[in-house]
Amino acid sequence: MSTGPTKIFQGSSPMSAPCIAVIEGEGAAPEAMRPTVELLSNLAPDINWSFPPVGKTGTEKYGSVFPPEAREMIDEADATFFGATSGPSGVALAYLRWGRQTFANVRPARWLPGCATPLAHPEGTDFVIVRENLEDLYVGCEGDLEQLEALEMMSLTARKPVAKMGPGKFALKVITREESERIVRFSFDLACRRKQAGKRGRVTCSSKYNMLPQTDGLFRQVAEEIAAEYPDIEFETYIVDDFARRMVAEPQALDVVVLPNLYGDILSDLAAGLIGGLGLAPSGCYGEDFAYFESVHGAAPDIEGRNVINPTATILSGVMMLEYLGRFEEAAHVDQAVTQVYRRGRNLTPDQGGQASTAEFCKAVSRFL
Ligand code: IPM
Ligand code: MN
Repeated sequence: MSTGPTKIFQGSSPMSAPCIAVIEGEGAAPEAMRPTVELLSNLAPDINWSFPPVGKTGTEKYGSVFPPEAREMIDEADATFFGATSGPSGVALAYLRWGRQTFANVRPARWLPGCATPLAHPEGTDFVIVRENLEDLYVGCEGDLEQLEALEMMSLTARKPVAKMGPGKFALKVITREESERIVRFSFDLACRRKQAGKRGRVTCSSKYNMLPQTDGLFRQVAEEIAAEYPDIEFETYIVDDFARRMVAEPQALDVVVLPNLYGDILSDLAAGLIGGLGLAPSGCYGEDFAYFESVHGAAPDIEGRNVINPTATILSGVMMLEYLGRFEEAAHVDQAVTQVYRRGRNLTPDQGGQASTAEFCKAVSRFL
């Protein structure tokens, strides 16, 4: 089976002189982002880079963490490269997700020989989580239980009005048919492209449909309906707690995994743990005509300023971005270079058992380009 990078939107012709908007993020994220941008610009000198004034720079220059000038620069660029945020850049993240409707959060979990996995037999682990990115509990609708009184909603399990269970709070979980269809279709299309590239061609759908037959049940039902349109792609569903164990026990059985937002958020960190840690896990968030790319990890404030953050997650997010721009050759070069560095096992960062700095790791990658 092929172990190359996942190609998303394959078929578009290479975009020449694209513009990429870079948001460095907070904490240790800029320390991974800066050398990655340098690496990519050396490889593809025709790429133009813009730096929207977000977070601290936005406040300094325009008195706002996300001024209209920043939004315009994002809108004008062909893709956005986003460093992890824990603070002021969060407003930009809300724009990138909900403002630009990036509904598919694609998080590959591919083990590269040399990466510090806790698995005894990691060989062949190469799957992709497709996380629905806009709804579920992330609609951000919480409140006091009292507010539910007027709705006369009953708890099926507690067998009493929910409003009477308080004082307390509630959160709304929203699953729509339209969004479920869009994310499931995206997942099957991705499985088709992966199959063409020599991978398994299987979609696994998981949710808690036994306890939540209406919301998670709808997600599963939509997946079953759409699966019937793709007879060449294998399809399976699991309840999410059972699926979590399966992910650890036999990750090689997985290809494309489609999940509602919250489970996707949680299980993509688990997937990163399986392949050797959050320092290795990239992501790309795709809308109909817009995409941004970011590492799965957070801002890692505990290692800020030490130049030891593992830039692999950021570099591999850059690979996904090059593919999105149709620059498949350059994407494959960078991917190969990262693979070589891990295979040789020198110049690895402390999270992978090495002693190299972020800069030294990046230099090692450049030598293989
Ligand atoms: C992620 C992060 C974000 C999320 C946070 C920062 C809002 O955990 O990208 O996985 O929950 O989506
Ligand atoms: Mn997360």
